[in-house]
Amino acid sequence: MADGRACAPLEDFPLLAAHAAGGPPLAYLDNAATTQKPSCVLDAMDDFYRTACGNPHRSAHALAAAATRTYEDARSTVARFIGASPEETAFTSGATHALNTVALCYCAERLEPGDEIALTLLEHHSNLVPWQTAARLSGARLSFIVPDRDGVVSDDEIDRAIGTRTRVVAFTGMSNVLGTVPPVKRIIEAAHACGAVAVLDCAQSIAHEPLDVHDLDVDFAAFSGHKLYGPMGIGVLYGKRRLLEETPPLLRGGGMVEAVFERASSFDGTPGRFEAGTQNVAGAVGLAEAVRYLDRIGFDAVRAHERELTRALVSGLDSIPSVRLYGPGPNAETPRGGIVSFNVKGVGAAEVAHVLDRRGVAVRAGAHCAQPLLRHIGAEAVCRASIAAYTTMHDIDRLLEAVESSRNEAVALATSRML
Ligand code: ALA
Repeated sequence: MADGRACAPLEDFPLLAAHAAGGPPLAYLDNAATTQKPSCVLDAMDDFYRTACGNPHRSAHALAAAATRTYEDARSTVARFIGASPEETAFTSGATHALNTVALCYCAERLEPGDEIALTLLEHHSNLVPWQTAARLSGARLSFIVPDRDGVVSDDEIDRAIGTRTRVVAFTGMSNVLGTVPPVKRIIEAAHACGAVAVLDCAQSIAHEPLDVHDLDVDFAAFSGHKLYGPMGIGVLYGKRRLLEETPPLLRGGGMVEAVFERASSFDGTPGRFEAGTQNVAGAVGLAEAVRYLDRIGFDAVRAHERELTRALVSGLDSIPSVRLYGPGPNAETPRGGIVSFNVKGVGAAEVAHVLDRRGVAVRAGAHCAQPLLRHIGAEAVCRASIAAYTTMHDIDRLLEAVESSRNEAVALATSRML
């Protein structure tokens, strides 16, 4: 948007609108951690509890039947959004739950000593730690596709790391630290060429790039609702139907069984077998509404807007002499999203984030649940600014101004603490 407006209006987001109306405006740039929620999502969740609260797939009374319809409609909406069928779309508590299901229930059961699980070094801990467990349980070993120091994955590196022993390739669709986007299709093709399953962690890419799981031919995919303008506590496990039917569930109990005897049970088909216990129906409703919200804006508008802001953010940070920028610089052509990490020389990342917060600019500082990647780029902690559809150029300008003066402010703050 050349006029500096957002492509998702601020008025749609009650928390941001309240800040803008009442007090100092908030430049919320921690969208890779979680996004703010539009009124339509909050209203849909509230409406479920006020008018349609029943437990789906259980009782036969009218409210329970309505809840079943509502829940399954939400599933169909989310499935369509990712190009999947409802049977291939299981609700989970989030991306972590979904990735654990794939690693521990499908893969660990099939892996053998000598097999390899290939991951990239960009992974969030939620797409690394479950694979460490799968490797320990099965005797398989982990191998790594190593990006360069900017977080860019080369074709040569993909070919080096994926080979005849590879049985699984699990990788992120967008680095949650550097914003870089690996060549997703190329990695899936390399996995399939050696008979491996491809597992895509879309937690960071889902709100910024359209996903078509069938077009990608990916075997499993996982994401959370809360980074997609939806609620926390709901996410999705996508899997090809045949693979999901071969995957035992991580959680077991009521609502996911076919027959139960004293000493053994058989499980429902997919997706019901992955949804043990009373489900987060309001969460599913909220996620479906978030998907409709994003559909109304359109990914073309989101991508154009976020690209423009990312360019301004990267070149703005790069031009501040005290800033050390991580990831691709302003002249790089590599595909990337609006997640940008940096440090201010001589000031700790947490301190910079604190100074920014005092000026109404919210960013995250730390290792971002990606410690191996942080070691790879030679940092213990970084500040991270991340963009959403409601971010404005004004938010970026405020971040840049705050970063520029953060060194002096941090010194002043430290001095005042010592007095
Ligand atoms: N995974 C989220 C992040 O990167 C929490 O901040």
